[in-house]
Amino acid sequence: MSLSPLAAAIEFIGVEKRFAARGRSAEVLAARDIHFSIAAGEVVSIIGPSGCGKSTLLNMGAGLARPSAGQVRVGGQAVTGPNKHVAFMLQKDLLMPWRTIAQNVEFGLELRAVPAAQRHAVSQRLLQQCHLQGFERHYPNQLSGGMRQRAAMARTLAVDPLVLLMDEPFSALDAQTKMILQQDLAKTVASAGKTVVFITHDLSEAVALSDRILVMSERPGTIVEEIRVELPDRPNPMQRRKLPRLSQLVSELMTLLKLDAQSEVH
Ligand SMILES: Nc1ncnc2c1ncn2[C@@H]1O[C@H](COP(=O)(O)OP(=O)(O)O)[C@@H](O)[C@H]1O
Ligand SMILES: [Mg+2]
Repeated sequence: MSLSPLAAAIEFIGVEKRFAARGRSAEVLAARDIHFSIAAGEVVSIIGPSGCGKSTLLNMGAGLARPSAGQVRVGGQAVTGPNKHVAFMLQKDLLMPWRTIAQNVEFGLELRAVPAAQRHAVSQRLLQQCHLQGFERHYPNQLSGGMRQRAAMARTLAVDPLVLLMDEPFSALDAQTKMILQQDLAKTVASAGKTVVFITHDLSEAVALSDRILVMSERPGTIVEEIRVELPDRPNPMQRRKLPRLSQLVSELMTLLKLDAQSEVH
């Protein structure tokens, strides 16, 4: 798959996803009429009610699921399966417990037969950037949850993907650890010029990290609104959190999601 430098980093063109009926359950229309385009270097969050199809969109972006209609393109090329231009990070760190942190970070490079010295150089640099220097030879179970998510971030960046797809990567962390990891992510992504599609339930997180936010409706999910964040200092989400405009944007998002005192959990 060769990429066009002029194309959007990732685009969804008329994408729909249906899951086949199984046993007594009827067919599920998980997402419909999805159109959006993300330019290289943009950070875009997707928010929406639980079950509206957010993870389904990312799975299609990663080539782990095929659209029932429409097309996903990365760097101008149709995504037909998992490919090296896209890396995925989830709430679960998915580190391999039998490999050290450095070996986990280098795993994707090993699969690509990158020579050991080069792999080592990449993992050293990223572990330092992700504040894990000194933990290269530790095993995942020797690290805290926040450190493991940092290691997962380093592993995701190691393969130098064009697009990072992140599905609620920090949602299992405590509030302060989460802010520190957001800061690391924002800085790293800005300095490497990476494109990110970020799913979150945390509206302040979406505003603090993103250039744009796409708001989805309830299932069958479609994008009902696009918010341009237009706050300064994207590489510094902690600073952004101090701006009064951030709470104003959060309140606009709550209105769009129809979140109020009467809201119920479905
Ligand atoms: N592999 C699957 N098979 C059948 N239904 C699925 C599958 N994956 C997701 N779904 C359904 O699609 C809908 C959207 O799911 P998902 O994308 O996980 O939502 P979200 O991430 O927004 O919470 C849900 O109703 C879910 O049950
Ligand atoms: Mg999900």
